[in-house]
Amino acid sequence: MAKPISLEKILFSQGFGTRRYCADLVYADLVKVNGVLAEDPEERIATDDLLLNVEGKDWEYHEKAYIVFNKPPNYECSHKTTHHPSVYSLLPSPFVERGLQCVGRLDYDTTGLLLISDDGQFIHKMTTPKKNIGKVYQITTPNPITEKQIDHLLKGVVLDDDPKPCFATACEQVSENILAMTIVEGRYHQVKRMMAAVGNHVDQLHRSQIGAYRMPADLAQGEWRWLYPDDLKQLSQSIDQ
Ligand code: URA
Repeated sequence: MAKPISLEKILFSQGFGTRRYCADLVYADLVKVNGVLAEDPEERIATDDLLLNVEGKDWEYHEKAYIVFNKPPNYECSHKTTHHPSVYSLLPSPFVERGLQCVGRLDYDTTGLLLISDDGQFIHKMTTPKKNIGKVYQITTPNPITEKQIDHLLKGVVLDDDPKPCFATACEQVSENILAMTIVEGRYHQVKRMMAAVGNHVDQLHRSQIGAYRMPADLAQGEWRWLYPDDLKQLSQSIDQ
């Protein structure tokens, strides 16, 4: 069982504002702890299975946040965006306040599976190419995908900024114009550049899987959900130790 912590610290840790602001939320009768109205911001609370309600909204306590998000097109994966709104604008504000970061970025026009967390070690483990985590992309192309192109992707293509070739570790042709391709690195625009290098083009790009973890079928575009220990176990089993 985790050591009890003061309610004010708990609210602060979850991203509800400064400690002073969190104390004021309690004094303003805006915080419930496991369904009971809280009165004292200094009260020590057990964090196991803790359910908060802040300003009328339920909030599960998570010491570290790990979430899965189904990214829609036309959003950028950065806090300071240039041309499009940020994916963070689609998430509850406490996530931004507590510093969640995308676990590897997707291009603004790419859709699908995005992990987001405030655990630096987790982000590093999931993004370093040394850990060999496969990412599966569904690629829709304007021109039919040929066996020769698939062979080339599997044998490795050289991109213009690095003489070291990059490979698809698996390719499955889903239909004439759809390829499911797995890659382990995360170079800049890697899939689009690999497809261009073999003489095709990407019309639509969707990430469906990271390691053994697949996008939940019932998670609609623009929605997020918490990852629980079973999901994290699936992800950590994908990592080369
Ligand atoms: N490769 C790309 O080209 N774009 C992405 O968003 C992800 C991988």
